[in-house]
Amino acid sequence: MEERKWPGPKGMIPEPERNAADANMHNRKYLDSMLVEMRVVDALEADLTLELFGRKYSSPIMMPAFSHLNKVGITGRTPMQEYALAAKEMNLVNWVGMEPDDEYASIADIGADTVRIIKPFKDHNEILKQIAFAKAHGAIAVGVDIDHVFGKNGKYDIVDGIDLGPVMYEDLCEYVKAAGSTPFIAKGVLSVSDAEKCEKAGCAGIFISHHHGRLPFGIPPVLALQEIRKAMPDTKMKLFVDCGIDTGYDAFKALANGADAVSVGRGILPGLLKDGKDGVIRKVTRMNEELSEMMGYTGIRSLKEMDSSVLHIL
Ligand SMILES: Cc1cc2nc3c(=O)[nH]c(=O)nc-3n(C[C@H](O)[C@H](O)[C@H](O)COP(=O)(O)O)c2cc1C
Repeated sequence: MEERKWPGPKGMIPEPERNAADANMHNRKYLDSMLVEMRVVDALEADLTLELFGRKYSSPIMMPAFSHLNKVGITGRTPMQEYALAAKEMNLVNWVGMEPDDEYASIADIGADTVRIIKPFKDHNEILKQIAFAKAHGAIAVGVDIDHVFGKNGKYDIVDGIDLGPVMYEDLCEYVKAAGSTPFIAKGVLSVSDAEKCEKAGCAGIFISHHHGRLPFGIPPVLALQEIRKAMPDTKMKLFVDCGIDTGYDAFKALANGADAVSVGRGILPGLLKDGKDGVIRKVTRMNEELSEMMGYTGIRSLKEMDSSVLHIL
């Protein structure tokens, strides 16, 4: 799709507002439209401990399912390994996107609890092979980014010369079965309809996301989260959210709306590319402080007490 040119004088309209189809812009506005009331009587310092798949983590802020960064990073740096090191040091859940098996192994071997997200390859055997490889390397969960089926031309996408293909309900059932006792996550859910299919297929979790705006005019993931929580109040699936989570305040809004955990993606990129592990630790530490501050002021002492009634839409 050709980018729509904004007719106004250059500089008058902020850059992100130039393309009305940009889901990132709508997402930012939506997150910023949520304001918070204060419940400070009886409030205590917050406990950020995340319990997930039988394990405990220091924060509900997780690393993103990134990929390819070792190809574009500064020479001699391996950003994929650097953010895994940050996850390990901070006891955060680590996510890894499209990486070949050997690269995946070298990231997983760092020792952070890692989730592997596999592309929806046209060759389903490749998906099954990568699921098995991830399991053999101790992945705490595996998944497929089901939102990366189509390219900008509306055809099945091709990444690194590899054909992607459609994800049918039966495919999801097959991947869940192949994952076995390892939780299977569908990444890139943005509707109740898909969430229901994922639940029926046996997914242990869904990642509510539009994959940094793959879908033109995509609704904000937190809005989809609200609709999914409302339509499926008793779901046992873990609900993860990303897209535009850049501060602890953004994370709070997603968590208060019912997310079990969130990922910060592009928000860690500047620090990661500049200072590696230390840059990521700096960013997440600050986000944890902001999240704690917000939980303190809203009287929410732990993730289990998260409560959407403290939020108001402007
Ligand atoms: C460099 C880069 C590589 C990515 N690679 C993958 C990938 O391989 N698989 C995947 O599911 N998502 C991938 N993503 C998408 C992120 O996991 C995430 O969904 C998206 O960036 C939105 O979160 P954010 O706004 O916090 O960045 C990638 C994003 C970036 C920026």
